[in-house]
Amino acid sequence: MTNFASRALKIEEQKLSLLDQTLLPHEERWLLMDSEEDLIEAIQSLRVRGAPLIGVAAAVFLQLQKDAGLKPEKLNSMALKIREARPTAVNLMICVDQFLSGVSGEQILFEDVDLCNKIGIHGAKVIEPGDNVLTHCNTGGLATVGIGTALGVIETAHKQNKKIHVFVDETRPLLQGGRLTAWELGKSNIPYTLTCDNMAGTLMRSGRVQKILVGADRIAQNGDFANKVGTYSVAVLARHHNVPFYVCAPYTTIDLKISQGEEIEIEMRKKEEVHGITGALGSYLWAPKDSPVFNPAFDVTPSELVTGYILDNGLFTREEFLKAFKK
Ligand code: MRU
Repeated sequence: MTNFASRALKIEEQKLSLLDQTLLPHEERWLLMDSEEDLIEAIQSLRVRGAPLIGVAAAVFLQLQKDAGLKPEKLNSMALKIREARPTAVNLMICVDQFLSGVSGEQILFEDVDLCNKIGIHGAKVIEPGDNVLTHCNTGGLATVGIGTALGVIETAHKQNKKIHVFVDETRPLLQGGRLTAWELGKSNIPYTLTCDNMAGTLMRSGRVQKILVGADRIAQNGDFANKVGTYSVAVLARHHNVPFYVCAPYTTIDLKISQGEEIEIEMRKKEEVHGITGALGSYLWAPKDSPVFNPAFDVTPSELVTGYILDNGLFTREEFLKAFKK
């Protein structure tokens, strides 16, 4: 494969390295993916994360193994293990399946860059000069190999000099907004304000949010979609306050095999993430150690709450989405 470098994925001399996102924003450490165990561990611990990026990382890793001469049987069983590393983002399954059906890892990689650019161009059309845009989780260059999905739209609108400002949900419990989106917006010099997740209602009520843009981990045929937990609450608030709510995603996030959101498997994570903060930044547990915990990594937002879908092939209203994808 040719050498390549994006914000979170590098290919150098036929080796894949990934930026350890659990250490951001304070440390930028790259990890060499020497084995399938390395990659699976990186995906499960969210060192590499974001629906498109985990799909591309898997495809690139498999391509490198193939190029190094790994036998088809072994490659196949490796691919199936990696495919199951996380259950919710369908990009992982779709990219591994594309690879197994003969699409090269390199093609999957460069396609993602292109898909992000297209989403950015379509999405920037809904952004008006001076808009305050609220976003949840992280959907930028750290979640893709391109400019991102929702954050790619923000990036594109900013480059078009639309003078936007972004409200960044912190995104409990793993703080993808506070740690990652804030870091990315800072790098691009896009004005932003960080807020805790439970402040979104107050912001909307006071009329300070004109648009909401989020990404997705899996979109069903009927337009219901899974995204980082908390997205559903934002969508309900948006409806109540009449704020347009857009989902931004490439076709690799659309699961044509499922008809509705209830069919999406939601990843459940460990209790320590809710008991306090735990991970590479250190550990501090503030809740009683034996507190029972509910910790789904994602939630499902019904399509009725979506104003529009910003996809790589255009902007779709809910009705247009249903026409295009519902069987
Ligand atoms: O658990 P994460 O950090 O992988 O969750 C990521 C999200 O929910 C993103 O919003 C989604 O993957 C879209 S990324 C372009």
